Amino acid sequence: MDKTIAITENIQKIRQDFPILGRNINNHPLVYFDNAATTHKPRQVLDALVHFYSHENSNIHRGVHTLAQEVTGKYENAREKIRSFINASYSHEIIFTKGTTESINLAASSFSKRFVSSGDEIVITEMEHHSNFIPWQIACSERSATLKVCRITDSGELDLDHFRELLTSKVKLIAVTHISNSLGTVNPVKKIIEEAHASGIPVLIDGAQAIAHSRVNVQELDCDFYCFSGHKMYGPTGIGILYGKEKYLNDMPPYQSGGSMIKKVTVKETTFGDLPLKFEAGTPPVGDAIALVAAVEYIENLGFDFIVNRENELVNYALDKLETLSDIKMYGHAKHRAPVISFLIDTIHPYDTGIILDKLGIAVRTGHHCTQPVMDKYNIPGTVRVSFAFYNTIEEIDAFIIGIERVKKILKV
Ligand code: ALA
Repeated sequence: MDKTIAITENIQKIRQDFPILGRNINNHPLVYFDNAATTHKPRQVLDALVHFYSHENSNIHRGVHTLAQEVTGKYENAREKIRSFINASYSHEIIFTKGTTESINLAASSFSKRFVSSGDEIVITEMEHHSNFIPWQIACSERSATLKVCRITDSGELDLDHFRELLTSKVKLIAVTHISNSLGTVNPVKKIIEEAHASGIPVLIDGAQAIAHSRVNVQELDCDFYCFSGHKMYGPTGIGILYGKEKYLNDMPPYQSGGSMIKKVTVKETTFGDLPLKFEAGTPPVGDAIALVAAVEYIENLGFDFIVNRENELVNYALDKLETLSDIKMYGHAKHRAPVISFLIDTIHPYDTGIILDKLGIAVRTGHHCTQPVMDKYNIPGTVRVSFAFYNTIEEIDAFIIGIERVKKILKV
């Protein structure tokens, strides 16, 4: 069979797994290009959620009854599945949170209480999502420490010379995104970690945009913390992961307190449980953790070779097509890029573009993408962002390009 026909048939088969992709929006077939905000969920994940609440629902770590025992086992199996997916050394280095934002807030609050004091510094970058920016701003202000921000270049890459200048003996941690959600830049995180470690500085990686697009191996990267969300990797909302090296997590104080995270509570004092439960106060997102296993299996069945090739094909096709259009200005020209494209059409406000595209059934994200410092750098209010997943098609990109022509015509550019 012709290779193109075979790929098309394969993608059509994959799309059948995602019921929402069959929707019509404003009388047009949905073209979903907002995968960096959240990905859709395959039937396997939806079935796992329905199965959990229909047959298994119970609280964990608390009951001797059969349901509680079964579900506790499945929840801990989910932790082990995530451990193996990112190749962490131990499953107790996997902390379930409600998403990347909570993972980073936990790390920033708890790490800084233990390891950051007055006069110390924390380094982040100008391209961080607000969720990897504000928690460090708050931590620095609470600890009388200083936040240093590594510049980005005009092409939207980290200025590595500036990064090196920032590596002083005062720095207690570097927090950097693996992939920029607004520019699509893939950062050289392995190199950053090597250089930071050479100066004895631990590194936290915000992996929200990377986890579904390339294989992440935390031991190979040697990162000290890695954060990501279930909902950006075809899993449910409300579940996220903080991976942390045991040596740091053991020394860090609890972030929240309550049930499950204790050894002993008396009226005088409380002693805290061991990892990972020390960081999982209260009832965790049990059903979401269990359904996340189905998402990991889905990704593993497709394989990262397929996913990376497919998404490269889509982003390269879209870039080529956009370059043929006049009045398009793109933001983010990194050599190593993810399936994310940010652009503006002439002086058209991104919201206007987004609204017209939506009328055509095309979902894109518009605005500052929770990266206002990036927009400040380019002196723009925001961009239009398209972000792809393996289930997107070349035909959808063609429809999007026609949509852009329509925007230009309606708004007389
Ligand atoms: N962080 C998500 C995005 O970039 C919500 O859209």
